[in-house]
Amino acid sequence: MKAVALTPGTTRISMIDIPEPVVTSLDDVKVRVLRVGICGTDREEASGGRALAPQGRPELVIGHEMFGQVVETGKSVTRVKPGDYAVFTVRRGCGECMPCLMNRSDMCLTGKYRERGIWGRDGYQTEYAVDQEQYIVRVPKDLETVGVLTEPLSVAEKAIDESVRIQSARLPEAAATPDWLYGKRCLVAGLGPIGLLAALALRLRGAEVYGTDVVDATSARPQWLGHIGGRYVDGRNVPPDEVERELGQMDMIFEATGVASLEFHLLDALGKNGVYVLTGIPGGDRPLRLDAAELIRRLVLGNQVMIGSVNASRDHFQMAVDDLSHARLRWGDHVAGLISHRRPYTEFQNALARHETDEIKVVLEWPHETKKQVPLTG
Ligand code: BGC
Repeated sequence: MKAVALTPGTTRISMIDIPEPVVTSLDDVKVRVLRVGICGTDREEASGGRALAPQGRPELVIGHEMFGQVVETGKSVTRVKPGDYAVFTVRRGCGECMPCLMNRSDMCLTGKYRERGIWGRDGYQTEYAVDQEQYIVRVPKDLETVGVLTEPLSVAEKAIDESVRIQSARLPEAAATPDWLYGKRCLVAGLGPIGLLAALALRLRGAEVYGTDVVDATSARPQWLGHIGGRYVDGRNVPPDEVERELGQMDMIFEATGVASLEFHLLDALGKNGVYVLTGIPGGDRPLRLDAAELIRRLVLGNQVMIGSVNASRDHFQMAVDDLSHARLRWGDHVAGLISHRRPYTEFQNALARHETDEIKVVLEWPHETKKQVPLTG
């Protein structure tokens, strides 16, 4: 079968032929890949950045934001059946630390985890994938057009979930409200797919959402945000240190830019007792000048929390599926508008290289033959 493979550490990327995977264990699930999203991590990999091939192999099959249809299951599988739509999670545990042994490899302690399509395990930009039942999440049929957003949304779900858990554990008034986020002022920095999906999850929970980026207010991403009730703030007119004066203090800042200087400067906008969650992974190593004393003063005197969040557990994938369902009920086809570009898999080079200005999320479509109609007899 065909697969898009990369030689890690280089920009060499090509279509290769690999054997089709087969169900060998009782708990295996085989999925026909229908579409796979492309994100900043894929582009970082394709430009020679962070990526690792499986042991003993020169190439890595890329792609981790998958969506597909179950075609075969091992005998003990109960979670999905052939015909179901489903997604596989990304990370596989080290098998050594407690979080990994508890199927929470997103919190791996040893760093010896593997990630499909990113780090030491082949990914999903291919025709079929097989993995164990514990890594699959069923997606309802009516989410067929947006199911490919499950993985990026799961990353936002984890970051939000952790922030809320922390706040609920330490803020006296949070214990009195079942949903701490309701009516809270949240700033999302960076309106790429993760930022916009975070905005979606926050709006579903009743938060007041502001989104900042450096694009025209009339362009696709601010417009998408506006439609779900978020307010766009053009970072070129309102720089990080003026956000507070312009909009007031924030209860939560969700950072999804991966721009280190911005990540620290936006702290100015965080209110007392606020939580700042970082999800962007900065590339490069440009040194940054910081007023560390002022930063620490703010954190301490303001009871503020700053956390980093990466990857997602299976439960967060489930939360993502549930939120996609809620979002479809509330905003209908607007949710699918986040997938601004759908390209045939053969156009992987262009899709990985080019970041079109009106792009929000680009996905590669894998061919899927339509079933032959069986003539009705009798
Ligand atoms: C993926 C995560 C992964 C992270 C670091 C992100 O793009 O969505 O699943 O853990 O990259 O590799």
